[in-house]
Amino acid sequence: MTWSINSIPSQEGRTVFVTGANSGLGFDTAQALLEKGATVILGCRTLEKAERSRQKLLDETDCGKIDVLEIDLADLEKVNEALDKIAVKYKKLDLLINNAGVMAPPQTFSKQGFELQFAVNHLSHMALTLKLLPLIAKQPGSRVVTVSSGAQYMGKINLDDLQGGEGYDRWSSYSQSKLANVMFALELSKRLQQSNLDIASLSAHPGLARTNLQSTSVKLNGSWQEAIAYKLMDPMFQSSRMGALPQLLAATDPTAKTGEQYGPRFNFRGYPKICRIAPSALNSDEREQLWQLSEKLIGDAVDISKGKELLSTKK
Ligand SMILES: NC(=O)c1ccc[n+]([C@@H]2O[C@H](COP(=O)([O-])OP(=O)(O)OC[C@H]3O[C@@H](n4cnc5c(N)ncnc54)[C@H](OP(=O)(O)O)[C@@H]3O)[C@@H](O)[C@H]2O)c1
Repeated sequence: MTWSINSIPSQEGRTVFVTGANSGLGFDTAQALLEKGATVILGCRTLEKAERSRQKLLDETDCGKIDVLEIDLADLEKVNEALDKIAVKYKKLDLLINNAGVMAPPQTFSKQGFELQFAVNHLSHMALTLKLLPLIAKQPGSRVVTVSSGAQYMGKINLDDLQGGEGYDRWSSYSQSKLANVMFALELSKRLQQSNLDIASLSAHPGLARTNLQSTSVKLNGSWQEAIAYKLMDPMFQSSRMGALPQLLAATDPTAKTGEQYGPRFNFRGYPKICRIAPSALNSDEREQLWQLSEKLIGDAVDISKGKELLSTKK
């Protein structure tokens, strides 16, 4: 049977945090969950963008509740400060959607000096998840969904230079960060199960979806060749609303299970179905190494101590 927006069960009483909620898949995900009655916290890079999205959602949606949070994932200290606000305001979190992302910019570094895609796409989302874990653990059956990409299948983790300091290749770095997303989701799932925590961790990828991801990348690189390539490829792309379905399924379908990944039926496009995880994400030693190194890089910038404690307690 085809899984669509209509398949989402009621989200009344559920509190959801979506990163990158002002644009593309994040916006459509927030809207679909609001339409089903959720309280949605819109995590956006600036308050101005968050407020603009709130207004647009209010104009187009008449259920659910909207809250906004300014969160710049390129600065771990700002991530820490932003998340403190959630912990003060909310007693539980039912769903975290690690969605925000940046694709193939020229070599850029985060505030803490990490390659931007590794920092925004992977490291900050890992920090955010571990910091929010105590709040997520308060709600049995809660979920964490991490948004990856078909680029995971081309990805390779360079454990010797995770921060991308040497020989930067913008597409390899993007693929690495998207493979890291899947590895994180899988490793988190394993650790949650080992700690007997009733939280599911899944990943999802949208195929090719018409969002701001491509135009932002073109603008940052000033590449007219890529602009033409995207124009020629346009018929292969599906709408952002369709692209958001795999993450919505992973987030809400009662039959979706921890450790699974969802993506479009025909890889680039189509209604969502369970999909193959990149073989290199199945290497548990590499996942363990990525986890340890990432924890080290997060360091004291984000207080993940309580999340780490929860995951190390065997019940
Ligand atoms: N569209 C596709 O075909 C496709 C394919 C595979 C995977 N994906 C994945 O889907 C996810 C969503 O992307 P999208 O396609 O919806 O692209 P999008 O329309 O460009 O949305 C990306 C979102 O991430 C936010 N973001 C970027 N850098 C940030 C930062 N430093 N701090 C906070 N937020 C930041 C953006 O904020 P601003 O608006 O402020 O930039 C925006 O809200 C990404 O993880 C992407 O890798 C997309």
